[in-house]
Amino acid sequence: MAKVTYHLPNGDTSTIDVPAGQSVMDGSVRNNLPGIVAECGGSCSCATCHVYLPAEVQGLFPEPTDEESELVEFLDGAQPNSRLSCQLIIEDQDEIHVEVVDSSL
Ligand code: FES
Repeated sequence: MAKVTYHLPNGDTSTIDVPAGQSVMDGSVRNNLPGIVAECGGSCSCATCHVYLPAEVQGLFPEPTDEESELVEFLDGAQPNSRLSCQLIIEDQDEIHVEVVDSSL
């Protein structure tokens, strides 16, 4: 389990307990938070679950796969710390902060 704090596109923050085995995307969608659309349901093909991962939590997740990196490369607003949140699987990371990029635009 991890406490995931989502910094939302409208400036609000929301902290959710996300169980192990679920993704950062799941925590957002299951709680109807704005910004993450997750059109493909987590199969790493839609790229509508874009987040920025702060430097201090980057080491808590595996490096992106080639598949993820290729999708991220073409996103508007892509940055070196861009990730697809459906690929960020919770284990026992304790506390995580992510910055949600609005994928509904
Ligand atoms: S939910 Fe589609 S790529 Fe993440």
